[in-house]
Amino acid sequence: MYKLVTVGLAAGLTVGFFAHAKAEVTLKSAEVMATTCFGCHGSEGKSANKNGYSIAGKPAKVLEMDLRAYKEDKKKGTIMNRIVKGYSDEEITAIAQYISTLK
Ligand code: HEC
Repeated sequence: MYKLVTVGLAAGLTVGFFAHAKAEVTLKSAEVMATTCFGCHGSEGKSANKNGYSIAGKPAKVLEMDLRAYKEDKKKGTIMNRIVKGYSDEEITAIAQYISTLK
C-alpha cells in the first residue's frame, strides 16, 4: 500500500513537471520562430516602410488564416508560401498567437 501511494505521487509530480516545462518551451520557440519574420516584416513585426506589411498586433485568427492560406497555396505570394511551408500547423498557431501579442 505504501509503495502504491509513493508511485502514484511520483507519477503525478512527473506529469506536472513535464506539462509545465512543455508550456515554456512552446512559448519560447514561438518567440524564436517569429524573429525569422521580423527580417522582412520589421523588428517586432512593425514595418518601417508604410507600404510594407506590418504584422504585429493583428488578431491571431487573421494571422493564422493568412499563414494557412499561404501554406495551402490558396493565397499566392512571392515568398510567403515557401516560408510558411517550413512550419507545422501547431507552429503556425503558436507564431500567430505570439505576433498578435506584440504592440
Ligand atoms: C523573406 C521575407 C519575408 C519573411 C522572412 C516573412 N515574410 Fe511574411 N510577407 C513577405 C512578403 C513579401 C509578403 C507579401 C506576400 C508575398 O509576396 O509573399 C508577406 C505577407 C505576409 C502576411 C500577409 C500580410 C497581409 O496583410 O496580407 C503575413 C500575415 C505574413 N507575411 C506573416 C509572416 C510571418 C508570421 C513570418 C514568419 C514566420 C513571415 N511573414 C516571414 C515577406 C516575408
